[in-house]
Amino acid sequence: MTKKLLISLLIFDCLIFEINIINFRSQIVVTTNSNEQKIRTLVDQMTLAEKLGQMTLVEKNSIKKGDITRKNIGAILSGGGSNPSINTPDEWYSMINKFQQEAVNTRLGIPLLYGIDAVHGDGNVMGAVIFPQNIGLGATRDQSLVREIARITAVEMSATGQNWNFSPTLSVPKDLRWGRVYECFSTNPLLVSAMGKSYTEGLMDGKVLPTLKHFIGEGQAAWGSSKQYKIDQGDVMMSKNDLKNIYLIPYSDAIKTGAMSIMISRSSWLGQKISSNKYLLTEILKKQLNFKGFLVSDWGAIDQISKDDYQNVVESINAGMDMIMVPSDYDKFMNNLNYAVVNNDISMGRIDDAVSRILRAKLSLGLFAQPMQKFDLNNVGSVDHRLLARKAVAESLVLLKNNNALPINKKIENILIVGKGANDVGIQSGGWTINWQGVTGYNFLGTSIYDAFKKKFKDKNIILKLSGDKSLASKGDIGIVVVAETPYAEGVGDSADLSLSKIDQENIRFTKQNSKKTILLIIAGRPLIITDFINGVDAAVMLWLPGSEGDGIVDVLSGDNEFHGKLPLDWPKTMKQVQENDLSKPLFQFDYGLKYKM
Ligand code: BGC
Ligand code: BGC
Repeated sequence: MTKKLLISLLIFDCLIFEINIINFRSQIVVTTNSNEQKIRTLVDQMTLAEKLGQMTLVEKNSIKKGDITRKNIGAILSGGGSNPSINTPDEWYSMINKFQQEAVNTRLGIPLLYGIDAVHGDGNVMGAVIFPQNIGLGATRDQSLVREIARITAVEMSATGQNWNFSPTLSVPKDLRWGRVYECFSTNPLLVSAMGKSYTEGLMDGKVLPTLKHFIGEGQAAWGSSKQYKIDQGDVMMSKNDLKNIYLIPYSDAIKTGAMSIMISRSSWLGQKISSNKYLLTEILKKQLNFKGFLVSDWGAIDQISKDDYQNVVESINAGMDMIMVPSDYDKFMNNLNYAVVNNDISMGRIDDAVSRILRAKLSLGLFAQPMQKFDLNNVGSVDHRLLARKAVAESLVLLKNNNALPINKKIENILIVGKGANDVGIQSGGWTINWQGVTGYNFLGTSIYDAFKKKFKDKNIILKLSGDKSLASKGDIGIVVVAETPYAEGVGDSADLSLSKIDQENIRFTKQNSKKTILLIIAGRPLIITDFINGVDAAVMLWLPGSEGDGIVDVLSGDNEFHGKLPLDWPKTMKQVQENDLSKPLFQFDYGLKYKM
């Protein structure tokens, strides 16, 4: 931990104390007497089978027709890229509506939760607006903007029938080699907390159930400690002190807003899978933090506890897990759960507690009164929503260097734009876009950097080169070189080396040779190692993963907007610093970000 962070944490310690007292006095009403009454009445009426159904979360591609009704399934999800075969908002709506009707047709008519990773807008849905990934939102430092982004995300979700978002991520990453850094707001827990709270409130404003994830400490896993990947789902080394004073802060703050679901990490803590850790799930979350909603396991998580499927169900539910993301073989899971109750390995009290928590979340959403919001195509990817995203992009950019190259003079004639990320909204958007791992070559999702330049610099000579090749006949007045990470999600993005690719390096050289001034733009979910290149360019800007509205980038580069973004993390000089997790002498420090008018 850097000294600066430590100091700010110490100062914050006093603040937390104050905030706790304030919250204690004016506690958010997380549930009402009438909801509690309704929960008791329902639970009293429910058969064991009906209860177990509520605790089962099935992936939509696995659910057999009629089984939602027959087996009283309480929740369905779309995994990343699990889209209807025709990916349009109305196909989403009619697909989810059919699932919802099956649920409403059960004896007690308990509506379904439909969960999805709308982690930067409703990214699976073709036509939805795609906002900057969270790391870019952390750079804006703008809580009201983040709240509005979350609210609009919820509006777009509701228009397609989705009512449960597996977002926001409240993790505090440490190792930038981790493939989920971009899903986090910052490496500073206070910033994560502030942004996470606003995001959670925004989703609730838009009548969508937020999910705080992934509890807890996952960004702290050691490189090489993961069986599946390198860091992701690995072993978290965190002391009880750090747990309480750092990693719990964002959860504790978001819980106080009334958030009703928390997803448990697939990582281990000191060798034990968190999905089976009773201390963390029950003692800390439910008792100490007084969390009244439900805990959901991550995709296939309980299968990682041990080789014994039955034991995994028993351990995880007894630890405090309330709903299991199965995701596919729900018959096996439900049989095991049923057997465990009949066999007294899990008490009926534990089952009733789990079901009550799930019903509380459904009631808090108003689902019983209105299981589906109205379909409204105007609410998906609308002009207004795109304007909000464009503003967010503009606010998120961080100016790293500027030797009088920016803003780009509107009178210049020749602009050279180079790099595979220069004309690709898929690359701009990163993982969790249309597919789990994201997409490339998708321009119709929004406005690329190249398109945005053509709009702002009409009538100018703009040359696009996806990769640098032979020298050009004449030099560009300005050369824009876009280096980019290829989209990735989760552990697939765990990467030993954050250096620029050979092609990106070649593109920088090419752009310098063929233009009078060179501006380096970086599309990435985390800092890349640019130490050897930054001196050779005239300006450098971190774009993060800005999403569908490339106009926001050119709004700032052209000088129509000012730079606002500040680094939400330290930017390393070398890979060695990353490996040793020593960022005491970074290339750029947390909070760094230049402006036109300093
Ligand atoms: C991810 C979660 C996600 C879930 C459902 C898991 O693999 O870790 O973040 O919410 O899948 O897509
Ligand atoms: C799904 C993701 C999920 C992942 C888990 C993918 O197939 O699309 O949603 O997070 O599997 O490994």
